[in-house]
Amino acid sequence: MHVAIIMDGNGRWAARRHLPRTAGHRAGAKAVDAIVAAAVRQRVGTLTLYAFSAANWSRPTGEVSALFTLLRRHLLTQTRRCLEQSVRINVIGRRDRLSADLRQSIEHSERATADCPGMRLRIAIDYSAQHSLIETCRRLQAENSLDRSRFIERLAEVDHAVGPSPEVDLLIRTGGEKRLSDFLLWECAYAELYFVECLWPDFAAPAFEQALAEYTRRDRRFGGIDACAAAGAAAAGISRNG
Ligand code: FPP
Repeated sequence: MHVAIIMDGNGRWAARRHLPRTAGHRAGAKAVDAIVAAAVRQRVGTLTLYAFSAANWSRPTGEVSALFTLLRRHLLTQTRRCLEQSVRINVIGRRDRLSADLRQSIEHSERATADCPGMRLRIAIDYSAQHSLIETCRRLQAENSLDRSRFIERLAEVDHAVGPSPEVDLLIRTGGEKRLSDFLLWECAYAELYFVECLWPDFAAPAFEQALAEYTRRDRRFGGIDACAAAGAAAAGISRNG
């Protein structure tokens, strides 16, 4: 199962406490640790977290650099924990605009956890689905070839994804907004969407488990009809055809 999360609401969480936005991001990073552990317990196959979108560059420089410091620290401190939990780390998104320090931390975490057979933890940094799709098309145009499997392969390459990016089963967005914000637009084609008011730093394991429980109750038809209706239609076909 692939769960993707848009972790929204750090700024409002801080504002409600009269704290700077960066305090909200620090609290958000703690929530990340708790949700990663919960996802491992729940045997999630892939967890993709939207940590920094390409559009987030437009935020004040101080906030952007605080976020990158947090991300780098997270990679440095959590790699050991990921190894203990057999979690494989993969950072998706552009790397050409990241600092050399952050790129090194990413490469170190990915190398160190490359053989971990457990959950795949993907962290999206400087990510834009539209950018990835356009860049993929550009590469395919140069190759003069377009088929679905090659498209998926090239998309993974553009995103620095380890293996083909799996389709998202459940997309969770905290913070009350109901939009995708340029996140995994191709991979979310048939994702179940789950929007929750809770601000990201308050999103703890029970709320995550509630989202997973809600997902299991959803009827995923992928454009078909549900199993009962299919059985009914088949039975009607049999009786009609004698
Ligand atoms: C959106 O909330 C959140 C972000 C832009 C950053 C997400 C980063 C973290 C959760 C912490 C670091 C991540 C990792 C993986 C360690 P917002 O700032 O837009 O909140 P607002 O909508 O309330 O202003």
